[in-house]
Amino acid sequence: MEKRTMLYEGKAKRVYETDDKNLYIVSYKDDATAFNGKKKGSILGKGAVNNKVTNHMMQMLTKQGIPTHFVEQLSDTDTVVKAVKIVPLEVIVRNIAAGSLSARLGLEEGVHLAHPVLEFCYKRDDLDDPMVNLFHIKALSLATDEQVQQITDYALKINEILCAYLADVGITLVDFKLEFGVTKAEGQLVLADEISPDTCRFWDTKTNKKLDKDRFRRDLGDVEEAYQEILNRLMGNA
Ligand code: TMP
Repeated sequence: MEKRTMLYEGKAKRVYETDDKNLYIVSYKDDATAFNGKKKGSILGKGAVNNKVTNHMMQMLTKQGIPTHFVEQLSDTDTVVKAVKIVPLEVIVRNIAAGSLSARLGLEEGVHLAHPVLEFCYKRDDLDDPMVNLFHIKALSLATDEQVQQITDYALKINEILCAYLADVGITLVDFKLEFGVTKAEGQLVLADEISPDTCRFWDTKTNKKLDKDRFRRDLGDVEEAYQEILNRLMGNA
């Protein structure tokens, strides 16, 4: 399997076509941005950590009945995935108040929510990914009713699976972002993109130390170490 034309370059990944029209190669970068690209930097080793953490999570979720785009890891930073058309929604699940939810609703960071919160944002960098509700999704034809229902069911199930899995390695899942896609080959809705310290808030359960991209966003230091710590815990080396 080899890379052909680069289809897309995002802030943290590049996506390439391959010799098989139904497969892409995703290549993870060390580049880091925050606040929709307004803050830029680099986190040494991040590409490799996010690639491995994502693949580990995706394979675990597959075993639990969640279909994903994952096919095969090629190297530290590169993975073969099913070619998909991304549904233009960022799907956020929250268990504990933090980040933009704390700011918007005046909730102190760390407050446990009485029920998981699901949010949809329209994937539009030029608009800073605005939050949308089910009416906007329908009115703008961002996804079908059936897709929204399926995405909702998967997102809440993924939350349950990840919370339990991470609890076993001493990590509290505060919130995370998912993206879904429709496979080019079969038209199946699958989990796509990544599940990594870039896209989740992970707190050490004992100390509440942040082990995710908030260390970069908020200049908290020990950024590389935090990413490595997540990989080590998942691989059972902590
Ligand atoms: P937020 O509190 O800033 O809205 O972020 C909620 C979660 O979504 C958090 O785990 C980080 C993740 N996230 C992304 O993966 N990409 C983004 O562009 C943003 C804004 C958040």
